[in-house]
Amino acid sequence: MANPKPHLLCLSFFSFLLLLHFPTVSLAQTFFVFGDGLYDAGNKQFISSNRVDASFPPYGVTVGEATGRWSDGRIVPDYLASFMGIPQIPPILGGTADFSHGANFAIADATVLGSPPETLTLSQQVIKFSENKNKWTTQARSEAIYLFYIGSDDYLNYAKNNPNPSDDQKEAFVDRVITSIEAELKVIYGSGGRKFAFQNLAPLGCLPSVKQANGNVQECVRLPSEMAALHNKKLLHLLVELSRQLNGFQYSFYDFFSSIQNRVIKSKTYTFETGIAACCGTGSVNGSSCSTNNVCANPEDYLFFDGKHLTQEGNLQAAHLIWGSDPEVIGPNNLRELLFLPLDTPFILADIQEAMAATRPRQIKIESLYDIKKMESEMDKQWLYQVGKASSFLI
Ligand SMILES: *[C@@H]1O[C@H](CO)[C@@H](O)[C@H](O)[C@H]1NC(C)=O
Repeated sequence: MANPKPHLLCLSFFSFLLLLHFPTVSLAQTFFVFGDGLYDAGNKQFISSNRVDASFPPYGVTVGEATGRWSDGRIVPDYLASFMGIPQIPPILGGTADFSHGANFAIADATVLGSPPETLTLSQQVIKFSENKNKWTTQARSEAIYLFYIGSDDYLNYAKNNPNPSDDQKEAFVDRVITSIEAELKVIYGSGGRKFAFQNLAPLGCLPSVKQANGNVQECVRLPSEMAALHNKKLLHLLVELSRQLNGFQYSFYDFFSSIQNRVIKSKTYTFETGIAACCGTGSVNGSSCSTNNVCANPEDYLFFDGKHLTQEGNLQAAHLIWGSDPEVIGPNNLRELLFLPLDTPFILADIQEAMAATRPRQIKIESLYDIKKMESEMDKQWLYQVGKASSFLI
């Protein structure tokens, strides 16, 4: 029925010519992580004078080891590192680890504003990055991915202390958070950072801890979710603005808000038995006090592991969406595309094809973790789309 597509034939001819003429794109092998408990790979235990729950079972129960991660197993940055083909990124406060592929600055209870005890604000995390930046070459810092999940605790604390804010007050608070994030992004940009990836904020009123504290079971609590939605809107606006203002600034913006909303409302569609109650904890929706005495038998059936954090299965699904999904979920680039985008240089087709081919063996390893057959075929389609874009750019 359909003839072979002439532009594809002509494309392979172009690729052949290009392969002869251009050097290889070097792939980012460096990954920096900033944020709160969702991304904490163990930092909290090095700064806290009290017992840190995540350093003990049942945290880590699915992987047989409690490492300070707030989940039954792996967290989003762990999966993303493995998709990138690099080792797990160690927590910066751990001291002697191998930081050759980057560092994780995220820590439980982190906020953007204020100065809460025994944690690091975003600004303090960025100071740590600056203090340590000579661990990485200028080139590594420019090619690196900088990943963020921050602001939850700002809005949860705000909603607790201001139960009935006016619209103007909400706007003003979100603006303060966003202005502060902007300043930190500019510091990182000033150190050579170009590739920024954001997981936007979850509908915070759907967290089991928040529901339980408000006496809700089914319904999500309105104000914290509303603050998160406003934040997400302004954050995207900021990223668009920075990409206009700052030469070479590139970003990914992942709509985690919708991912969580879908999984809370239609849990079974997304393989979960429930997106309402947490696997571990006590109370109406297991929203608090997770311990070995009250952990569920099958964490993978739950979206939330404790009152505030996802199970490994929830994290895995989010990581897959960040890595490879389409612009309805993450835009303008998914992480895989962000990784391959050349820095300040024109889009060179052959280099990108070659680099994509180089990641195939890594993909195979990932398959053992999760059924990604369907996703792979989607990725292939996307790759065709990418080629289409590249060719129209070149011609
Ligand atoms: C709360 O956690 C327990 C494990 O302690 C689990 O058996 C129970 O199903 C959870 N509650 C709900 C509503 O899922």
